[in-house]
Amino acid sequence: MIMDYKTTLDVHPLRATDPVVDHQITVCVRKRPLNVKELNKNEIDVITVQSRDRLILHEPKQKVDLTKYLDNVNFRFDYVFDDTVANEVVYKFTAQPLIKTIFEGGRATCFAYGQTGSGKTHTMGGEFKGKTQNFSNGIYGLVAVDIFELLSTPTYRQMDLAVSASFFEIYGNFVYDLLAKRKRLKVWEDGNQKVQIIDLSEIIVKNVSDVLEIIKKGSNQRTSAHTSANVSSSRSHAVFQIVLRRIEGGNMKVLGKFSLIDLAGNERGADTFKSNRQTRMEGAVINRSLLALKECIRALGKKETHCPFRGSKLTQILRDSFIGENSRTCMIALISPGVSSCEHTLNTLRYADRVKELAVGGEDVSLDNDFVNDSDVCSDDSSASSIPEENPELTDNFCKVLQAHQSVIKQCVELHKMTIDSYDNLQNESCSKLDVALNWKKMLEDTINVQKDAHTQAAIYYDLLCKQKWKY
Ligand SMILES: Nc1ncnc2c1ncn2[C@@H]1O[C@H](COP(=O)(O)OP(=O)(O)OP(=O)(O)O)[C@@H](O)[C@H]1O
Ligand SMILES: [Mg+2]
Repeated sequence: MIMDYKTTLDVHPLRATDPVVDHQITVCVRKRPLNVKELNKNEIDVITVQSRDRLILHEPKQKVDLTKYLDNVNFRFDYVFDDTVANEVVYKFTAQPLIKTIFEGGRATCFAYGQTGSGKTHTMGGEFKGKTQNFSNGIYGLVAVDIFELLSTPTYRQMDLAVSASFFEIYGNFVYDLLAKRKRLKVWEDGNQKVQIIDLSEIIVKNVSDVLEIIKKGSNQRTSAHTSANVSSSRSHAVFQIVLRRIEGGNMKVLGKFSLIDLAGNERGADTFKSNRQTRMEGAVINRSLLALKECIRALGKKETHCPFRGSKLTQILRDSFIGENSRTCMIALISPGVSSCEHTLNTLRYADRVKELAVGGEDVSLDNDFVNDSDVCSDDSSASSIPEENPELTDNFCKVLQAHQSVIKQCVELHKMTIDSYDNLQNESCSKLDVALNWKKMLEDTINVQKDAHTQAAIYYDLLCKQKWKY
């Protein structure tokens, strides 16, 4: 059925020579080929990459009378890469356009998101040949090549910039240094909300091969540690950072930072509902961090004043990536094409879609205009439609207020969910109670601030309604 349907489709996938568009937030999807296991099981490929920005997921379904049918779900992203696209091309459209940001004093971030085995490490770290990984063709390595190339140009050579790299892992609520035998590190937040990882190894690098050495060392630490502890890499977030510094008043000041993150497998969130307590706790922490991440990127896109970064260790550490005009982010959602992964693939696509909602029809919808297209929150469209036509200024005000209000309320909901997770964390013996309590307290402070905003918006809305009271 799927194969028949596919033959009816007109397909024009992305070409390596297509133009690269500048975005503050880029969201794209990469489909990997069916692997040997899936091919041996004769699994059907349920994904069609239709064009450079569209894909269709063909979900086989069954009606109550047992007749089978296909549910074809359409998605649109900034770019969609099919299973023939190489790492270098993915890089060209995702992380490469962000390189200049760090030279301009900004923060660049690139995330790989997806279920276990979907290709996150293949994309970020480099292609695998058996057990060996080619670190020079992963996004980490390709970023290093471009940074050193730019550094050698006359403009930057004279600026005397220093480059350094760190590699760490966030597992549960703890941070481990992948360049120092997985030493557990403390994370501090100072009075100015500046977050620091104490004693994190930051190694000065002089050229690309220095960087590749670090990537290799960190990746090996990650793999070996996980084998010995019997935990798969899909339960931790790996963060590789390249920092540019320049001398200012005798001090080395950070100019720009590129953070590249291989996220924990998103299917782990579902573990929250499964048996063993440890797994459940891990699932809850991963869930919370992925939820917080999504909200932080959305807050950046909508230039909101509140960024719910305290929702997780991951977003807390990456806080400076979500604030400021000069922060740019790219999310690469990785998907497995086999029919057995259909549910996880759909979850991945929905998550990526929520990060930056692009209407399938063509127009960009949400980051700037969330009000129009959100099914998660009940919006009172009827009140907007009953606004008298003869007063366009008020109509405009109503829409703006409702839009702002809805966005604030959504942040409240997310913060409450995170607070509940914090409570769950208190039950987890392996977490420091003091850390959890502090995080909880700060998150409630965020909630109160957001609710104050909600109250202000509600008051404005009430005033507007009072002005028009003869109409309602
Ligand atoms: N685009 C691709 N082309 C060819 N092989 C791929 C591609 N993406 C992934 N693979 C292969 O699929 C396997 C799983 O990929 P990878 O280890 O990157 O998954 P992952 O998302 O990091 O999983 P986990 O969350 O468990 O760490 C690897 O053997 C990798 O080589
Ligand atoms: Mg991996």
